[in-house]
Amino acid sequence: MTQPLTRRGLLAGGAATVVGALAARPTAPTAQASPTAVAEPFDGVHQAGIATPPQAHAVFAGFDLRTGVGKEAIGRLLRLLTDDARRLTGGRPALADTEPELATMPARLTVTFGFGPGLFAAADLESPVRPLPPFKTDQLRKKWGGADLLVQIGSDDTLTLAHALRMIVKDARAFARVRWTQRGFRRSAPSGETQRNLMGQLDGTVNPTDLDGAVWISDGPQWLRGGTTLVLRRIRMKLEEWDATDRVGREFTIGRRLDNGAPLTGRAERDEPDFNALTRVGFPVISEFAHIRRAHVEDPGLRILRRPYNYDEGLSREGRSDSGLLFASYQADIERQFVPIQRRLAEGDLLNEWVTTIGSAVFAIPPGCSPTGWIGDRLLA
Ligand code: HEM
Repeated sequence: MTQPLTRRGLLAGGAATVVGALAARPTAPTAQASPTAVAEPFDGVHQAGIATPPQAHAVFAGFDLRTGVGKEAIGRLLRLLTDDARRLTGGRPALADTEPELATMPARLTVTFGFGPGLFAAADLESPVRPLPPFKTDQLRKKWGGADLLVQIGSDDTLTLAHALRMIVKDARAFARVRWTQRGFRRSAPSGETQRNLMGQLDGTVNPTDLDGAVWISDGPQWLRGGTTLVLRRIRMKLEEWDATDRVGREFTIGRRLDNGAPLTGRAERDEPDFNALTRVGFPVISEFAHIRRAHVEDPGLRILRRPYNYDEGLSREGRSDSGLLFASYQADIERQFVPIQRRLAEGDLLNEWVTTIGSAVFAIPPGCSPTGWIGDRLLA
C-alpha cells in the first residue's frame, strides 16, 4: 500500500521546487559502544522523546502553517518530516541531506511531533487541546506563544541536534514558518540521577512511574490513543535575586534540601514528605506555601510527567542572565492534571518571588506509528 517516499512526490502541489536531491547512502551506526552511536527506536506505540530518558540537549521548534495549507498539505508535510525523523534518529541521512556526514551519530536522537490548536483549525478538525486559562502570575510574551506544529528534538550531541533541526526546518519551509526555537540543556544522567536546574535544585524527583495511567491517552478520539499532551512553559528565573537568598530561605521555598533533595522532614531524596510535621513552636516544617506542598498531587494517575530543560540565553550588558526553565509537562489530560496544579501555584507558591512564566503553548502529541506509517496518519490520511 505504502508508496516509496520521494521528495518530488511529497512536495508535489506545494510551492517548493526540489533541486539536486542527493541519493541517500545509509550509513548505519557502528556496533561499537560509543555513546554517539546509540539510536533510539523511532517507530512504536508511543512517540519517542517522552518516556525516553532525557537527552542532554533539546530544542523545541514551533511552526506556524502558511496560509492555504490545509489537511491534505499537512498530511504531506508530516509524511516528509516523519521520513526525515525516522532516518535521522536511525543514524542515516535524510532523503535530501545536504550534510549527510552529520547524520551518522544519532547520540539518542529523538524527534517528537505535536499539533497545536491552529493545526486543527487549518485542517478543519476538532482540536483536543486549547490554550490554558490565564494565571495571575503569568507575564506572557507573544513571541513565546502557541504554535501550530511542534517539533521537539533531543540528543546527547549538539551537532547532531543542530543538523536534525536544520533538515526539519528546510523540509518544512514550503508549508510552515518558524515561530520560535527554544533551546535547552540538562545534565545527562546516565546513572539515573535527578538533574539539577539553574537554581541548583534537584528537579524531577517526583514524577509518575506508571505512564499508562497518567501520561498516555487511552480514551477519547481513536487517532489520539497512545498519544499525550504537552504543556510547554518558558519560565524565567531571577537568578541574581535568588543568589541573594540564603540557603535556609531557598530550602524553605521548595520544601526540600539543596544538597541531596530530601524533603525537609526526611533524610533521603526519595523519602515521602511529611506535610503534617510541625516545628517545636508549632509551625509546619514544610511551609503551607512551599513549592512541593502546593504542587503535590496525591493520586498517582493525576500526576504530570515533568521533563524540563534549562535555558541560558547569555547576559545583558549589566551582566544579568536570561535564564530559566523550559518546563515541559506531559499528561493525558491538561484540564484535569496540569491546570489545577498551575492554579495552586499561581495562588500561592513561595517560588513565585523568583520565577515568572513568559511563554506558554499546548500541543496534542499523536501516538507513534508503524514502520510504514507516519505521525498523524490516523488523523490526516
Ligand atoms: C522555574 C520553575 C520551577 C522550578 C525551579 C521548579 C522546581 C521544583 C523542584 C526543585 C521540585 C522538587 C523536586 C522534584 O520533585 O522535582 C519541584 C517539584 C514539583 N514541581 Fe516544580 N518547579 C517549577 C515550576 C513548576 C510548574 C510550573 C509546575 C506545574 C504547573 C511544577 C510542578 C511540580 C510538581 C508536580 C512537583 C512535584 C511535587 C510533589 O512533591 O508531589 N513546577 N519543582
